[in-house]
Amino acid sequence: MADLHVVILAAGKGTRMKSEVPKVLHGVAGRALIDRVLDIAGSLQPATTTLVVGHGSERIQAHLVARQDLRWVVQEPQLGTGHALLQTAPVLRHQTGTVVLLSGDVPLLTGESLQGLVRTHLEANAAATVLTALLERPYGYGRIVRTDGAISRIVEERDASKAQRAIREINSGIYAFALEPLFEALEKIGADNAQGEYYLPDLVSIYRRRRRVVTTYTIPNAIEIRGINSRTELAEVSRMVRQQKNEELMAAGVTLIDPATTYIDTDVAIGADTVIHPCVFIEGGTTIGVACEIHSGTRIVNSLIGDRVLIKNHTVISDSAVASGASIGPFAHLRPGADVRETAHVGNFVELKKTTLGPGSKANHLSYLGDSTIGANVNVGAGTITCNYDGTAKHQTVIEDGAFIGSDATLVAPVKVGRGAYVAAGSSITEDVPAGALGIGRARQEIKEGWTEKRRELKRSKA
Ligand code: UD1
Ligand code: CA
Repeated sequence: MADLHVVILAAGKGTRMKSEVPKVLHGVAGRALIDRVLDIAGSLQPATTTLVVGHGSERIQAHLVARQDLRWVVQEPQLGTGHALLQTAPVLRHQTGTVVLLSGDVPLLTGESLQGLVRTHLEANAAATVLTALLERPYGYGRIVRTDGAISRIVEERDASKAQRAIREINSGIYAFALEPLFEALEKIGADNAQGEYYLPDLVSIYRRRRRVVTTYTIPNAIEIRGINSRTELAEVSRMVRQQKNEELMAAGVTLIDPATTYIDTDVAIGADTVIHPCVFIEGGTTIGVACEIHSGTRIVNSLIGDRVLIKNHTVISDSAVASGASIGPFAHLRPGADVRETAHVGNFVELKKTTLGPGSKANHLSYLGDSTIGANVNVGAGTITCNYDGTAKHQTVIEDGAFIGSDATLVAPVKVGRGAYVAAGSSITEDVPAGALGIGRARQEIKEGWTEKRRELKRSKA
């Protein structure tokens, strides 16, 4: 919309979070609060979006460095929400139309509610429209005081009388304002209140005194305006977001055996008929295909999992790919850059890093495979180690199709085992093994006949 502008307030310290991290960078189900609020703002397709920052402004700007469309205003010091909006005067004073004000710490609002607010505001031709909600427990929020049904002022918890504290209609901290009278009126806000701050909600009484139209838009689903001020609220909102995500997944055909203990981030995608057992964590931008089974204790971060993949208990996978039909775990660790191809097997206590395990290949027990390219149908025996690090640099191991690596082999990189070659169990391989050859690198076994009896005799004679 051409004459619609958004301002997001995110300068406050977030004192009650007790954190070095700016409040709006705290995450809910894998996405920072500020990213969630920017998504909500985006649903209005505003002409401009301005962020008011102060505490931790560098970190917030660094987090949003890719968003070239944003305008930034620094509020220093932070003297309250009224003072915060006033700081946008240099960017918005000469604009016309409407400004929608959002709080960086209110992440559950839907685009529909925001559109409802703007529609009500425009239809009423109002100077200000306040988004309100009715709460069972309104503690902590500003209360909406009405006279003859119309909003007359907003009173903060700390400044409220006992009677006002009983009011259940609260200020969401989200508003639509007509730009034309806004900045001149903001300058009239004083700081004569319990916190000595310039309260934006005071604009309501200022406008009412001037006989400007002030109206409200009450959303039916009060949960949407939940603000995050403390770690407890962060946890509560996170739980609600996860619950909603779980319900969406189940509606789309995913089985969650125990949704209450299944932790799936907002941006995760999962195909139908996949079964997820209790205590599983699926995070970041992970995508999982259809008909997979993921057992308890598993954590998957920013990874791509194909169809019909079996992931057994206590597996950790990050920044990796697992192709269709593969089987991983139990107790496997796929570190960044692991690329497990179709129907390959990675078994217990096997760690992969920057390693491709080709189609149909198996590394079933107790291995470290790093900086390696392993072809199709390779058997990696129990206890195989790629020695990829010489103390200064990392080196590559290549194992070609159909090779067989005997148990307890160490492959000292850079090294290559050719197509169809064998490596004898217990070998230290320091030179390339050509295709079709057998590489043995170990001390030859000796047999000393009668050695045990001779040793006993020796001991007896000394005694
Ligand atoms: C505010 C409202 C309250 C409302 C509640 C809804 C005021 C005075 N009160 O209270 O009526 O019920 O939100 O959640 O507005 N901020 C700045 N600069 C400042 C102060 C705050 O940018 O100087 C930002 C904060 O970072 C935050 C937002 O404004 O994103 C709200 O501030 P906060 O201190 O959380 O206000 P509440 O006490 O929650
Ligand atoms: Ca707040």
